[in-house]
Amino acid sequence: MHSVSRQGAPFIVFEGGDGSGKTTQARLLFRRLQRTGIPSIFTRDPGGTDLGRQIERWLKRSNDVMPRNELLLFAASRSLLTDRVIRPALYSGKVVVCDRYAPSSTAYQGYGRTIDLELVETINQSATGGLRPDLVLLFDIQPEEGLARKGSGVADRFQEEGIAFHNRVRVGYLRMAAAAPERWTVLDATLPRSTLSASVWDRVSGMLESLKATETTGAAIR
Ligand code: TYD
Repeated sequence: MHSVSRQGAPFIVFEGGDGSGKTTQARLLFRRLQRTGIPSIFTRDPGGTDLGRQIERWLKRSNDVMPRNELLLFAASRSLLTDRVIRPALYSGKVVVCDRYAPSSTAYQGYGRTIDLELVETINQSATGGLRPDLVLLFDIQPEEGLARKGSGVADRFQEEGIAFHNRVRVGYLRMAAAAPERWTVLDATLPRSTLSASVWDRVSGMLESLKATETTGAAIR
């Protein structure tokens, strides 16, 4: 239906710091796509496969993990998620809505843990096989506010990091967005939920429309 020649249907990724509300918004978008009759799936990186969920649980709780271990384990999980879940869905014409993807490794392991950004990029390339989101929606929020929103539950190893870590993550995200404005949209995550979901829908429906127009033009030229 909404096929683009390179990788199939559109691939939409939600990114942002802890407590930015991106998961809620990703789910809202998925429901709206479904209601509109657009074939789609919702998945999570790393939680979209059984192994990914185990890796996520371990990485969140273990107190014996080095930054490089983190990078490679997220990458292993992403490689499986890409090949088993994301690519098959895109090839079968389904829009993929994914909560986090490779930019999370650049933000958290690259900027946050200060692993060399070129190394992170190389590992990301390998894990994704070069698959890139058509659209990244970044939910930007001050770390203090995001973490406060997470509430009083048990904090995981990432949430327990200091504000300096979370500020580096935020800067990393904003740099990626500034470097590729055609693929990234930055949203102010402090806006009301309904305002945000309307902005997300504007952006996504606009993209789907323009893809449809390209396909029609392409077909007419052929
Ligand atoms: P998750 O429960 O998905 O957090 P959130 O609801 O904030 O998305 O936990 C994922 C945690 O793992 C989150 O703190 C970010 C971190 N993470 C990385 O450090 N690198 C990565 O590549 C990914 C995908 C997540």
